Amino acid sequence: MTDASTQDSNQMWGGRFSSGVDAIMEAINASIDFDKRLAAQDIEGSRAHAAMLAAQGIISDSDATAIREGLLTVLSEIEGGNFPFSKALEDIHMNVESRLGAFVGEPAGRLHTARSRNDQVATDFRLWVRGQCDAAVRGIEALQKALLTQAEAGADWVMPGFTHLQTAQPVTWGHHMMAYVEMLARDAGRFRDARTRMNESPLGAAALAGTSFPIDRFATAAALGFDRPMANSLDAVSDRDFALEFLSAASICAMHLSRLAEELVIWSSAQFRFVTLSDAFSTGSSIMPQKKNPDAAELIRGKIGRVLGAMIGLFTVMKGLPLAYSKDMQEDKEQVFDAADTLALSLAAMTGMVADMVANRAVLETAASAGFSTATDLADWLVREPGLPFREAHHVTGMLVAAAEARGVDLPELTLEEMRAVHSGIDARVFDVLGVYNSVASRTSYGGTAPDRVRAQIARWKEILE
Ligand code: ARG
Repeated sequence: MTDASTQDSNQMWGGRFSSGVDAIMEAINASIDFDKRLAAQDIEGSRAHAAMLAAQGIISDSDATAIREGLLTVLSEIEGGNFPFSKALEDIHMNVESRLGAFVGEPAGRLHTARSRNDQVATDFRLWVRGQCDAAVRGIEALQKALLTQAEAGADWVMPGFTHLQTAQPVTWGHHMMAYVEMLARDAGRFRDARTRMNESPLGAAALAGTSFPIDRFATAAALGFDRPMANSLDAVSDRDFALEFLSAASICAMHLSRLAEELVIWSSAQFRFVTLSDAFSTGSSIMPQKKNPDAAELIRGKIGRVLGAMIGLFTVMKGLPLAYSKDMQEDKEQVFDAADTLALSLAAMTGMVADMVANRAVLETAASAGFSTATDLADWLVREPGLPFREAHHVTGMLVAAAEARGVDLPELTLEEMRAVHSGIDARVFDVLGVYNSVASRTSYGGTAPDRVRAQIARWKEILE
């Protein structure tokens, strides 16, 4: 950071000031340390603006050419890591413009015609967040593919399905994996929706009221890949709802990742052993030699805190601001940057973990039949065959569970006599529904866990994701 003197007034806006700002003022005011991440978007926006100014006859073609080429030089300097960032120049906008002046001289001073840093930053930030929406969708799709591979391998493997983390009914491994594919699809949909809504250009709104220059906002919007210019200049410079939508979508996605992470933590424990995580996504303990810890899963579970915190943070910044721009809004960036980085890393880590993990089929199968998991199948059978009302069937099944529990066995291990002692309507066909494979195969309702249903969903998703 090469700081210009704080004695002289600011070279970009200091006309009415007789001295420079206090060092503390500079420290609280400068955003360059973080908004340098908007450099590429800032330069893209400025190049589109310059081209439009020339096309409208507001600046000369030769000035526009000098500006546009000079900006590419600035960009390569930034990308090469040897740009002299200055805190005295506050932010990325003034750093770029000042550096452009060093390269091209006088024409640089014409770039800021008919715009303000207010529409400039709103444009840069929209472009950046839009890119992150696309990145999030790509990250989500990679994870969906990893889950799909797991689902396909074990479309008919049985495992316990839980409610209240108590064994409920057997489900298939493929079904469980595909549940996350569905959740992630909605996450991707939220990023796509947000992207569509945010894809309007603030550029040309100028400070807040528009401009008297004959600019063409449709041209700059098109050049930057926006669908149209924003229709109200006050709205254009003052809202950050697009960033809030991104953070909301990111928070929901991070919440989904956190739930999957929690399952992996439980499943990889010695008590469950449902899955084995790879060494590549586990760590050891410095004191307990036997340990293999699911740190990546735990960190993903924890990182929702940062993403959700960013969302709450930005809501809090925005909630009381009068129109139009207020400097509070400079506080919009760091948390969005952090949330985007955190989500990208979490998605990548989860993708790696899911791709590498090995489901322990035999353990899943044994667990699937424990805990009277087919009791509902038994109750359903009592409704279907002897024709009991469901409430009575529920009660009779409860008594059979109690009988099995008293004997320390599972439902299929009760003898027919023991069952008939509870209800005389039971016959030998009941054993057909008591096995876990029968149980899952029978759940053929749309969206159900039957392997055929699961395979159909896997096929549908493979087509979508290819
Ligand atoms: N660095 C500022 C921000 O991030 C840019 C806009 C400054 N506008 C102004 N009127 N001071 O919000």
